[in-house]
Amino acid sequence: MKINTVSVFPNIIKNNLKYGIIGKSLKKNIIDIQNYSYTQFLSNNERIDDQIYGHDPGMVISYQKTYNLFKKIKENNKSSKFIFMSPKGILLNNDLVNKISKEKNLTIVCGRYEGFDQRIIDDFCDIEVSIGDYILSGGEIAASILIESVSRMIKGVVGKENSVIKDSFMNSLLKNPVYTKPEKFKGKKVPKILISGNHKKINNFNRKESLKTTLEKREDLLSYSELDSSERNELKSIKNIKFNKNIFISLIHFPVKNIKNEIIKTSLTNLDIQDIARTAKTYGINKYFITHPVKEQRILAEKVINFWDSENKRINENSKHEAIKNIIIKNSINDVIKEIKKICGKKPTIISTDAKRMKNMVNYDLIRNKFLSNNEPILIVFGTGWGLTDDIINKSDYILKPIDGYNEYNHLSVRSAVAIILDKLFGCKF
Ligand code: ADE
Repeated sequence: MKINTVSVFPNIIKNNLKYGIIGKSLKKNIIDIQNYSYTQFLSNNERIDDQIYGHDPGMVISYQKTYNLFKKIKENNKSSKFIFMSPKGILLNNDLVNKISKEKNLTIVCGRYEGFDQRIIDDFCDIEVSIGDYILSGGEIAASILIESVSRMIKGVVGKENSVIKDSFMNSLLKNPVYTKPEKFKGKKVPKILISGNHKKINNFNRKESLKTTLEKREDLLSYSELDSSERNELKSIKNIKFNKNIFISLIHFPVKNIKNEIIKTSLTNLDIQDIARTAKTYGINKYFITHPVKEQRILAEKVINFWDSENKRINENSKHEAIKNIIIKNSINDVIKEIKKICGKKPTIISTDAKRMKNMVNYDLIRNKFLSNNEPILIVFGTGWGLTDDIINKSDYILKPIDGYNEYNHLSVRSAVAIILDKLFGCKF
């Protein structure tokens, strides 16, 4: 592969790549790198940067002063893919590395200062690539990382090609733990199966370890990997052991708002009873509290619940019953909080939901990361009508960002909102 680099400090790239297997591949001409400096077509002491138009501070790489250099590289490397290293680019991952490694000719362009005059990007860039969500002083180190990772994929660079196939991120999994001699040191042993000599058993063991490592460290990757149903079930049960057992939800019928922002009571909706109960059970919610201050409405709810209960006696294995039995009917949100305190020994963290955007709302990952893998009690509150009152919202510890599509219309039924929100918070990601 031919690689051109364009940078202010070509020596950073040269030095980074002179060691180990990449250094050897350069010597063996498996990879041929030509490092261009931005200044090579400029007269002595001429700068390649200039002030940004507008009020932003800082300098950018000039279109005029680099145009001839880019044009020349393009003329001499007709099929070259131009990759601009930039924090605004696509995040580099193994798939992108693999894709880039299929090219025969690359030109990797490094920024400095506040980046490039946009016209350089418009004229010459094929892809902008970032190595992470942080800012480096220049793209030379980022380019070195790209070259190192892409080179490993090129035939002949890594001695045993099989070891690249077994690297982390191949098949979107992290590599299993590995061991070397001695079998036992300071009382710590190598897993027995790895010294059994049975290839099939070793492969199965390593696959399982790789799945578990990925679940523990990078669950997000699992959604890209191919798992069979037994692997998926095994990972789910591992995850389930750590899953927060003290997540509660509550559906509020009073106080809620109407379209005019007045405080009202809403009537119980039959569908909200069993649909939300089934959603709650699906996502591992401990109890689903329905609150209503009107006695007759609470009796009505009991009737519906009892109907499904007796249905359970009539039809064996009625899966609705399993969900319905986790419903508790209460007069008010305060009674719900008291009940959770009784169950868990402490007051729950209150998380409100609202279809309206307001200040200090939090995203779903924050709640997932904070509460999914411990047993801290949390109560997620859903309002009927036109939503929860300011009083409840202001008393809650967190307010979740609204769920919406890309349209202006946003009027989900509360049971749809519960399903979507619980999936975003606690849904299985693989
Ligand atoms: N140049 C400066 N920061 C960078 C980053 N995060 N990725 C790629 N190039 C960069």
